[in-house]
Amino acid sequence: MRQVRLSPEVMVDPGAVLAALSDPLLVVDFDGNIRFANSAAEQFLQQSTPLLCRQKLKDLLPFGSPVLSLVAQVQIEGTTVSEYGIEIGTPKMEAQIVDVKVSPLFDQPGSVVLRFDPRGMAEKMDRQLTHRGAARSVVGMAAILAHEVKNPLSGIRGAAQLLEQNAATGDRELTRLICDETDRICALVDRMELFSDPRAVAMGPVNIHEVLEHVRKIAQTGFARHIKMVERYDPSLPPALGSRDLLIQAVLNLVKNAAEAVGDQPGGEIILGTAYRHGVRLATRAGGESTKLPLEVSIQDNGSGIPEDIQPHMFDAFVSGKPKGTGLGLALVAKIVGDHGGVIEFDSRPRRTVFRLLLPLHDIGPEVAP
Ligand SMILES: Nc1ncnc2c1ncn2[C@@H]1O[C@H](COP(=O)(O)OP(=O)(O)OP(=O)(O)O)[C@@H](O)[C@H]1O
Ligand SMILES: [Mg+2]
Repeated sequence: MRQVRLSPEVMVDPGAVLAALSDPLLVVDFDGNIRFANSAAEQFLQQSTPLLCRQKLKDLLPFGSPVLSLVAQVQIEGTTVSEYGIEIGTPKMEAQIVDVKVSPLFDQPGSVVLRFDPRGMAEKMDRQLTHRGAARSVVGMAAILAHEVKNPLSGIRGAAQLLEQNAATGDRELTRLICDETDRICALVDRMELFSDPRAVAMGPVNIHEVLEHVRKIAQTGFARHIKMVERYDPSLPPALGSRDLLIQAVLNLVKNAAEAVGDQPGGEIILGTAYRHGVRLATRAGGESTKLPLEVSIQDNGSGIPEDIQPHMFDAFVSGKPKGTGLGLALVAKIVGDHGGVIEFDSRPRRTVFRLLLPLHDIGPEVAP
């Protein structure tokens, strides 16, 4: 195996580096023969390297596997393609949902490297489908609350107002308290009603930068007045397919969380970013056409980071790490992104938390790179 000199003292064997990587990797040549498998791939596919290297990829995977068409696409186009949530199963291994990234090997035309990520976005997707389930249960609950709670509440509020007229000064404080608290419950029910909006979302072309600028203005004149906001936009980003109002609502919730995480600390900063990601796709569970999600919107803050115990349930309704939080913000964001056919992911450690929305393009004929 050819060695690479990193510095006068260090020689590195690229094969040893590949073998040491914990992600399963395969190299497939022009004719579809498997030429290399690292030890993570041996474990993942439950076959030894010599055995794998005697097979063609099409013999390893089931007929019609989307991985084969990904490889063919990369061989033709010569650019990297990732697809999230593909089901991989071989006669020797149980089916799993993984992310697959296929990249061309430039010094060997037609050869490609496949990287499998069994724990990546696929897992996040699974979590997200659960979040959608959680959102659905909120939908049902919101409808019940609207009926069963709001009506009696307005009765209680009206009665308290009547009492207030004849109450002694000391008691007025109590009737005020009843009014204020019933108002608070009404506001909460109103927020939950957003989940139960039964109208189908009207989707059209949306300029993401206009959405971000709108949110930035709201934030900078209100809750994030004291926080520096930075824009890192890809100016050539094409329009998304979505609903402007709903996307504003989603981004606003994310920016509000970011501002609350930053708090009053000096040097607090929120970075709004956009990027075009070629080759990001989401496999549909039914095995049909995959959805392209090339538009990335990111909201990054340098605040406290998300408490670890909250992270697995963060998109569920009523999960909050704040003393006065209702825990509805992220549940609503997950519902909105899901209604757009998109994906939300996050990455958090103290002083660096990023939420990324991956959204579909408003298709205007064949995909044109911006
Ligand atoms: N950018 C962030 N940095 C740190 N923690 C975060 C961030 N975003 C969300 N969180 C954590 O996730 C929890 C859930 O957020 P979510 O927006 O759903 O509810 P909330 O902000 O507590 O209440 P609400 O948005 O309904 O007022 C938060 O309480 C917070 O602990
Ligand atoms: Mg919130």
